[in-house]
Amino acid sequence: MAKKLVTDLNVTGKKVIVRVDFNVPLKNGEITDDNRIVAALPTIKYLVENGARVILLSHLGKIDYKKTEEEIAAAKKKNNMAPVAKRLAEHLSDRKVVFVDATRGEAVEKAVNELKDGEVLLLQNTRYEKGESKNDEELSKYWASLGDLYVSDAFGSVHRAHASTVGIPSNLPSAVGFLIEKELKFLGDAVENPVRPFVGILGGAKVADKLAVISNLLEKCDTLIIGGGMAYTFLKAQGKEVGKSLVDDEKLDYCKEMIEKAAKLGKKLLLPIDTVVCSSFPDPIDAEVETEVVPSDQIPSDKEGLDIGPKTAELFANEVKAAKTVVWNGPMGVFENPTLAAGTNTVAKALAECEGTTIIGGGDSAAAIKKLGYADKVSHVSTGGGASLEFLEGKGLPGVDVIEDK
Ligand code: 3PG
Repeated sequence: MAKKLVTDLNVTGKKVIVRVDFNVPLKNGEITDDNRIVAALPTIKYLVENGARVILLSHLGKIDYKKTEEEIAAAKKKNNMAPVAKRLAEHLSDRKVVFVDATRGEAVEKAVNELKDGEVLLLQNTRYEKGESKNDEELSKYWASLGDLYVSDAFGSVHRAHASTVGIPSNLPSAVGFLIEKELKFLGDAVENPVRPFVGILGGAKVADKLAVISNLLEKCDTLIIGGGMAYTFLKAQGKEVGKSLVDDEKLDYCKEMIEKAAKLGKKLLLPIDTVVCSSFPDPIDAEVETEVVPSDQIPSDKEGLDIGPKTAELFANEVKAAKTVVWNGPMGVFENPTLAAGTNTVAKALAECEGTTIIGGGDSAAAIKKLGYADKVSHVSTGGGASLEFLEGKGLPGVDVIEDK
C-alpha cells in the first residue's frame, strides 16, 4: 500500500518533525561528503516554502553505551552535529537555521516554541540519548510532544526501529518525504517490476553480509554477477583452488545451494574467470603492489585474489551494457588501491554506458562510483547502505512500514 507523502499533509504553521539521515562522513570534524544533506533538501525546502516550522532530527556515527563513561564522552564529542548544522545553514542560506546542542530539555523546548513559519531547527545527534536505539517509549513520546506532524526522509536509517524512526511516528500523523519516495520508486521498481533483462551485480568482502540479498536477487533477476572478495567462497564451493584468498568456510554449503538454485531457476550466475592476485593484502590499503593475472581456477597457493581480472571485467561489463535494469552493490576488488581498482572501474563505466535503468545500492559501491566520476551517469545512487541491502533482501523497512498509508 502506498504511503502518505509530505504533500498529503497540511503543513502550514505546523511544527513538523523531520527525521533525516545526516550521518555524513567526517574527517577531523570536517564533512568529506555532504550528499546525504543535499539529498534531504527537496523535502526541507518544500516544508519551509509551505510555511512549516521544521524540526530536524538525525543520528551521526555510533555511540556504544556499553563502553566506559570516558569512551562514551569521546564518541559524543566525535559525533557532534555542529559541523552538519553549519553545512545545512550554507545550503539554506535564505532561511533561519537554528542549532541546539541538546536532545531534550529547556533549551530544546524554548527553541521549538520560538520557531516561526518557514524556519528550521536542528537538534543534537539523536544517539546522544541512550534510549534512541532501543526505541524507548518515554523518549519517543517526549520527541513526539515537540511537534504536530512527522515526516520520514531518512532512507539510510529506515531499517532501524529506533525512537526517532519508529517511536515518534507511532505517536503522530506521518508521511514520507521526497527522498524516501524516490528511493522506494527506484529500488522497488527494479526488484518488483524490472524491465528485462535485469542484471544484479554483487561484490564486497563477505558472503555472510549478503546472504539474503543473493537469494532474493537470484529469484528476481535474469543474471546475477558475483565479484569482489565474496566470489572466492563461491569459487571454492565449486572445488576451485583459491590460494590465500578470502574465504568464508562456513558459507561454502550456502554457496553450493545458491549455485544449484540458479541452475534450477534457469538463471545465469556469473563468477570471475580470471583474477588479479598479490602475495598479500596491501598495507596501507593504497600501497604499491605487484600483481599477476591468473585464471580463477589456478590461483597459486601463496597468492591472494584482490580484483577481478580483465577477461572477467569485460564479461561482466558486456552483460551490464546489454541490460535494461541493473542493480549494483559492492566493489569488484580493493578499489581503494589504484592498481586493484580496474575491475570496479570497468563495471562502473559499463553502468555509466548502459542505456537501461542503473541503480547503485549505496555503501562502498556508491563511494566507488563517485570516486570514479560516474555518479551523474547512473539513474540512481541510493543514500542507504544497510537500508538498501535490507530492501534488496525483500525485508520490510520498519521506518517505512510505520508511516500512515494513503
Ligand atoms: C548508514 O550510514 O548506513 C545509516 O546512517 C545507518 O547508520 P547505522 O548503521 O549506524 O545505524
